[in-house]
Amino acid sequence: MKNPVALNRIAENTVFRKGDVFVLFGELFGRGYATGLLDEARRAGMEIVGITVGRRDENNALRPLDADELAAAEERLGGRIINIPVMAGFDLDAPAGGPTPTDLLAAMTLESWERDTLDWDYIAQCRDIATARFTGALSQVMAVLDGMIADGRNVFFAHTMAGGIPKAKVFLVLANRIYKGRGARHMSSQALLDSDMGKLILQNFDEVSAITFQHLIEASATIRARVEAAGGQVRYTAYGYHGTAVLIDGSYRWQTYTNYTQGYAKMRLEGIAQEAWASGIKATVYNCPEIRTNSSDVFTGIELPLIPLLLALKKEDGGQWADAQWQACEQLLLDGVTMNDVIGKITDMQANAVMRPFYDFSAWPMANSQAQSDLTIGTSNEITQMHRDGKALVSDHLSALVVEATGKLIFGETSDPAGPVQWLNHDIVARRLNASHHAAEPRAAEAVKDAHLKVA
Ligand SMILES: NC(=O)c1ccc[n+]([C@@H]2O[C@H](COP(=O)([O-])OP(=O)(O)OC[C@H]3O[C@@H](n4cnc5c(N)ncnc54)[C@H](O)[C@@H]3O)[C@@H](O)[C@H]2O)c1
Repeated sequence: MKNPVALNRIAENTVFRKGDVFVLFGELFGRGYATGLLDEARRAGMEIVGITVGRRDENNALRPLDADELAAAEERLGGRIINIPVMAGFDLDAPAGGPTPTDLLAAMTLESWERDTLDWDYIAQCRDIATARFTGALSQVMAVLDGMIADGRNVFFAHTMAGGIPKAKVFLVLANRIYKGRGARHMSSQALLDSDMGKLILQNFDEVSAITFQHLIEASATIRARVEAAGGQVRYTAYGYHGTAVLIDGSYRWQTYTNYTQGYAKMRLEGIAQEAWASGIKATVYNCPEIRTNSSDVFTGIELPLIPLLLALKKEDGGQWADAQWQACEQLLLDGVTMNDVIGKITDMQANAVMRPFYDFSAWPMANSQAQSDLTIGTSNEITQMHRDGKALVSDHLSALVVEATGKLIFGETSDPAGPVQWLNHDIVARRLNASHHAAEPRAAEAVKDAHLKVA
């Protein structure tokens, strides 16, 4: 993408209705983006179907969910789960008896990893084995799913998969330093990418966060053909990340969290949607704002651009409801600390000369720098300390609002999506929230004002 394509309308669902099928392609976690979309699917009366990535046993073999795990997952989802594990990525796959890529990484040390090399032919074998495992399991999933979709039904496939961080201790130490390290603990993300370890990890991110979307589109071709032949419609959505326009100095400007190492995979995900779209398949990647979830908590500072959403709620005429959000957030802060203090810190960070080079869309995803990491992570830590309770943060409150808004926006837009890649910036998120929560209020307030005028 040369420029971000903003979603700038609030569309309503015109396709999906009671009895249609919503397929969540990824597991559901309480705070995750998928919860907002699922709420909309449920509201439309759709049947919910989920998958599982499976679990690893003590020998790392992949297994389905056991009865208790399955019952808990189905209850959380509010639908049936096809219990055939579709864990993506090749970090734990290997030819029989051979070391897995995670084993190979585990053999590296904090002193040696920058020089350590990998046997790329062997890694390719592991990757092929994982692809065969994944696509084999996925075709079984699709066979089961096919039997769950009656003729005449529409189908909504929602891809949420993202990940691929291998569980090798040495990498976890490095990841902690890249995403959380300041001062002497800072580590250059470029140094990682220049190493064989980094190249392996980027391949694994591609597999989990991007190529799974292609597998999903391909493996559901038979279902798509049958549904469409019966007059139904099929849609595919995926969650992207490629920076977000947020309110900076009174106007919406694109910015990004740095270093988003997964950015290459997210651009590949966009490419997969564009290719599918070119062949007539309605697949859309929605690039979403920075929020805090199980997956994003690793990135310290990702929540900083989220906080100015409060300004967007006001700018987009959120009235009393926006004021109430502001107050709810302020109540989470220490006595004597205001939301203006918090937002002031973020404004200072954004305006700092150190950050300027990083707000270049065409250079994304840029490597971190010592000064940028120190500033971002330092600001994040300072803002956390301005709260009463480190476990009840302003960013929790705002993340939940963004999940709600994106669910509504994506569900509405996907009936007739405008294109394969769209950005959900803070303006449309704020407008969507205000439309749901504040819509009735201004009229009520106006009515009261009118009544006063008449009396006067
Ligand atoms: N959190 C953010 O700030 C943010 C911003 C923009 C886009 N997104 C995207 O939203 C989507 C959902 O993420 P989230 O932040 O809500 O977190 P989440 O933790 O709720 O979701 C992560 C998903 O990835 C799946 N997953 C993880 N490892 C996997 C593997 N090896 N194989 C298959 N599936 C795997 C999980 O089952 C889960 O469905 C992701 O695509 C993410 O990149 C997140």
